[in-house]
Amino acid sequence: MLKFVSLLLALSCCQGLHHNNIDDYVEAEPVFQASKYGSLWPLPQKVQISEVSFKLSSASFRIVDAKASSAGPSCSLLQSAYRRYYEYMFGSAKKQWGSKNNRRSDPSDLTELQVWITSPDSECDGYPSVTSDESYELTVNQPVAVLKAPTVWGALHGLETFSQLVSEDEYGAKSINATIINDFPRFQHRGILLDSSRHFLPIKVILSNLETMAMNKINVFHWHIVDEQSFPYLSRTFPQLSEQGAYHPYTHVYTPADVKMVIEFARLRGIRVVPEFDTPGHTQSWGKGQKDLLTPCYSGSKPSGSFGPVNPILNTTYDFMAKFFTEISTVFPDGYIHLGGDEVDFTCWKSNPDIQKFMEQQHFGEDYSKLESFYIQKLLDIVASTKKGYLVWQEVFDNGVKLKPDTVVHVWIGGRSDKEMSNVTAAGYTTILSAPWYLDYISYGQDWQKYYKVEPLNFEGTDEQKKLVIGGEACLWGEYVDATNLTPRLWPRASAVAERLWSAKNVTDIDDAFNRLSLHRCRMVERGIPAEPLFSSYCLHEYKGV
Ligand SMILES: *[C@@H]1O[C@H](CO)[C@@H](O)[C@H](O)[C@H]1NC(C)=O
Ligand SMILES: *[C@@H]1O[C@H](CO)[C@@H](O)[C@H](O)[C@H]1NC(C)=O
Ligand SMILES: *[C@@H]1O[C@H](CO)[C@@H](O)[C@H](O)[C@H]1NC(C)=O
Ligand SMILES: *[C@@H]1O[C@H](CO)[C@@H](O)[C@H](O)[C@H]1NC(C)=O
Repeated sequence: MLKFVSLLLALSCCQGLHHNNIDDYVEAEPVFQASKYGSLWPLPQKVQISEVSFKLSSASFRIVDAKASSAGPSCSLLQSAYRRYYEYMFGSAKKQWGSKNNRRSDPSDLTELQVWITSPDSECDGYPSVTSDESYELTVNQPVAVLKAPTVWGALHGLETFSQLVSEDEYGAKSINATIINDFPRFQHRGILLDSSRHFLPIKVILSNLETMAMNKINVFHWHIVDEQSFPYLSRTFPQLSEQGAYHPYTHVYTPADVKMVIEFARLRGIRVVPEFDTPGHTQSWGKGQKDLLTPCYSGSKPSGSFGPVNPILNTTYDFMAKFFTEISTVFPDGYIHLGGDEVDFTCWKSNPDIQKFMEQQHFGEDYSKLESFYIQKLLDIVASTKKGYLVWQEVFDNGVKLKPDTVVHVWIGGRSDKEMSNVTAAGYTTILSAPWYLDYISYGQDWQKYYKVEPLNFEGTDEQKKLVIGGEACLWGEYVDATNLTPRLWPRASAVAERLWSAKNVTDIDDAFNRLSLHRCRMVERGIPAEPLFSSYCLHEYKGV
């Protein structure tokens, strides 16, 4: 570790020499120095790291259940997490064979991490939710380290933190400093949106990003699973949706077994899977397999042959939605479904004489946002009857749709998103922020800093209003992203958002962030994740490809 640090310092002396002369290159690049917080990311709420250091040996070190823990050996979520973190720290058992690191243990080694779940209900077999207690306390000292958490969700975060405290010297020997950490998230909803419609994302890339989310204490996978371009979700009730609407009916679909696997893989890492089925716009792919679902557009007095948003004036539309969302509510265990509702283009609705007649009957005048509200209102009632809560994009709020009080309004439009946050919270709605975190926009240089500097509560409003902000999401839309470039484009840029949503408000030192994030990035690389570099530097264990 020390060697790594000094080399990085040596390298960073010469930064600036080979730069292209790019105008938006305004800020000087930070220079790497070891942080007093080591490589912790996101930074815990309270940390004390001492100078006392213990060796860790793969031969003797164990992660075990504390005697008093409410989650014993039957909690497979924890058992598999112990194995995962042991392997992150020491490599797999096979690689261990004959390595120097496999030396005999010393009496001064740290040999045990005890994991103690303190609530009577450990939630081992449950699903994480927006109200889960994710806090934990970690004490690293002799003779044992203790990780205390009310539920398994906090324990998972604590295991990640413990693994981040372990450092490696130039000979591969592992050590950890005596440390006391008291940690909990600042915001409950810390999400990442991935889009599997513009490009199909193989299950493998989704799973490896769930792993990476866990390394960053991200707890929501917002799965933007379908959109205009393709419908890869294989519905048991309406299999023709993906038969006709997926890019390919067998190779580019998510079967019920695939979806189940994603949900369980995420659960084992404390991550909620919130699916988005966006309507009434963004639905071209739905129309391929579901006749009469979309509005026929007209050219003059004749149908033009093209189709617009979901047809809001037919009863069959709502029969379909009721059956479809009943299925979705049983397939996805999370308490929330994202219902979209963004960017509805009214041109097609306006062209259709049946819709015009309906507008007259309903006294909507020429205000097509009233028609959109009419649709969304009925959809919300359908979804509410499945006992799910819902998230919607901000337009649904902007158009004055009556929402259930527990609706989450998702703010995404840039420019005046602070004003929008004021408006949404003044109306009493819970909200999450994405506007400043559209990671599909890329540029030269260290744009993670821009994401890092965002303060989600920086809007006009009372303390009560600020409490309604439950978090945010980094969005990686898929027009230019598939399995070839998703992971390096997302990480470590999304890590900046992860720290903003987890750590205390005053954790804003950009140099310290650079120092920790550089090491955190190398750790992701060491764990097999092709996370892109922040700047000129190197990692002790470079990415070796797949
Ligand atoms: C850990 O302890 C060593 C001394 O044993 C010290 O040099 C190092 O700075 C400490 N690490 C952190 C992150 O405080
Ligand atoms: C649609 O449903 C409404 C309310 O249930 C009913 O009044 C109307 O007659 C139905 N329309 C058709 C075409 O079936
Ligand atoms: C917020 O509400 C005010 C008052 O209703 C309105 O004028 C303004 O356009 C809204 N701002 C945004 C960003 O929607
Ligand atoms: C943030 O605030 C807390 C409590 O006021 C304080 O203990 C801590 O040192 C501050 N941290 C930073 C990085 O300024």
